[in-house]
Amino acid sequence: MTASHLREEVKNRVREASDIVQVIGEYVELKKAGSRLTGLCPFHAEKTPSFSVNPQGQFFHCFGCGESGDVFSFLMKYNRLTFPEALKEVARRYQIDLPEPKLSDEDRKRIRERDVLYRVNEEAAAIYQQYLAQSPVAEKARAYLSDRGVSADMMHSFRLGYAPDPSDAGWTFITSGLQRLRLPIADIERAGLAVRNDRGGWYDRFRDRVLFPILDMTGRVVAFGGRILGDGQPKYMNSPETPVFDKSRLLFGLYQHRDGIRACRRAIVVEGNFDLLLLAAHGFDNVVAPLGTALTSHHVRSLRGYCDEVVLLFDGDSAGLKAAMRSIPFFLAEQVDARVALLPPEHDPDSLVREQGADGIHRLVDGSAPLAEFAYDYLVKQHGMTLEGKNRIALELQEIVAAASDPMQRSLMTAHFSEMLGIPRAQFAEGMQRQGKGVRESSRPARLSIAQLPRKQRQLVDFLVYYPEFLDELLAGGLEEVVAADPVSEIITCLRQLAEEGIPSPDRLLSMLPEQSSERAYVAELLIAGGQVNEDGGVQEARLMLDELLQWLRAEKKQKEGAALMQCINEAQRTGDHDLLMKLLRQKQEMGKNT
Ligand code: UTP
Ligand code: MN
Repeated sequence: MTASHLREEVKNRVREASDIVQVIGEYVELKKAGSRLTGLCPFHAEKTPSFSVNPQGQFFHCFGCGESGDVFSFLMKYNRLTFPEALKEVARRYQIDLPEPKLSDEDRKRIRERDVLYRVNEEAAAIYQQYLAQSPVAEKARAYLSDRGVSADMMHSFRLGYAPDPSDAGWTFITSGLQRLRLPIADIERAGLAVRNDRGGWYDRFRDRVLFPILDMTGRVVAFGGRILGDGQPKYMNSPETPVFDKSRLLFGLYQHRDGIRACRRAIVVEGNFDLLLLAAHGFDNVVAPLGTALTSHHVRSLRGYCDEVVLLFDGDSAGLKAAMRSIPFFLAEQVDARVALLPPEHDPDSLVREQGADGIHRLVDGSAPLAEFAYDYLVKQHGMTLEGKNRIALELQEIVAAASDPMQRSLMTAHFSEMLGIPRAQFAEGMQRQGKGVRESSRPARLSIAQLPRKQRQLVDFLVYYPEFLDELLAGGLEEVVAADPVSEIITCLRQLAEEGIPSPDRLLSMLPEQSSERAYVAELLIAGGQVNEDGGVQEARLMLDELLQWLRAEKKQKEGAALMQCINEAQRTGDHDLLMKLLRQKQEMGKNT
């Protein structure tokens, strides 16, 4: 057996043992719709489900963005894994032993690099955590935390740690600790825990700080946030970005609170780590916090997988309001409902919950305003309702409306805002166009897709997708001469290659077609809509269909040849090439006889 056959076999074995519905169901809320399941696509912004999972075929497809594939491609896309990582993950879930993987050197290197970063962070978290819990010199950190209302339970469940003061534990507490575990210094540095000094030595990045481990969506430690005890600069320090840590994607608390968020279908976003801990301590198990950055569309999208609504509970100061304003376009673009809860200016969620308890937070959340209303009120306060003020408000609102990806929502907001401002709707909308928005879809190059082909040609493609074993017969019948469209050639090429490797099947074809291509989307839609090919009864049916298609091909071919011949005849007439003309006319007569 060749390496590639072996790989295929392993892949198929793992895929067969797995259940794509179960795997995807952990990330996307799926509802039954006939023989398939649908949900909101995790790969693009949408409000009505066009993401669909086919349990019989074990693949997924999004009718909105065209993303499609099997359980492995889902995990690769969603969790940004390499194929071998995705394979390993599915195999682990379904307890299948994998043979030693044959990886490319590149893959191997990448995986090794990431694995060691996970390991470095994990070991560091354990050391810091134990130090906070047990070391006598960590007493001041424990006191600091308990002062701020963080219980030992909370410390435990968020795996809080303490990086000691150099005067107690030296400048290389964690660096040496990890080296003792035989972790290479280069990797400790890469993880951001050791920093090189000008004498070629190392010192710890985090010193005398309470540490918050940042977990990715599989619960692995990928970074730390560290707060200084008391006053001092910088107040917070975070791990640098690494191949396993992208702060524009991760949210602090999402891993710990994902079930809580799922259960109440609502997430609360706060700005600070302590806000999160204190709310959690008061029973809110659905809170997340970005890592010292503004909310991004990735953040919004990852929340969308868990809830129907997001409540922004930002600090009551002007920075908090601005942060809420800045996040509006992402919610609109991702089509996630969001509300803004306004804290009194002197409060952040941490101080408020300590003063007023959980009730105070509930009151705020209950009184929160939808994004659009919040934006309007904010801008009115900002600019005032003078003529000049209205003008500015309109400009800023137009920008917000233009960010919405749902046309219905855009027109609702246009109607709403223009009425509030007393501006004719058309004028408000026109201003939006002047700002140059709404060009999102227009500039893609046009290429004929399979769906645009004439019906019969489409039928041929459909047939080939379901019955790739008849490729040779159709080719012999003149398939390529008759159907010359690019996407069909693409499919034929893939089928040829599959035929060389073994038995072609619809789902293998799907995984071979280029991602995001219209061919792939078409094939996926076809497989989703048509369900599966009949187990055996289909063969006879297929034969009949094949004959019909071959007949059609013959006729088409003939017609094409006839047309080409006529062109030559005309040409010969025009140039007065009598001999050629005679020859061609004879050919034409021959052709006619065979019909
Ligand atoms: P804040 O400055 O609002 O602090 O930063 P906070 O959370 O209220 O801090 P405490 O209550 O004084 O401890 C909000 C978040 O921004 C990030 C941190 O994640 C912090 O929790 N941040 C803040 C940084 O990353 N770096 C900084 O220097 C400050
Ligand atoms: Mn605070």
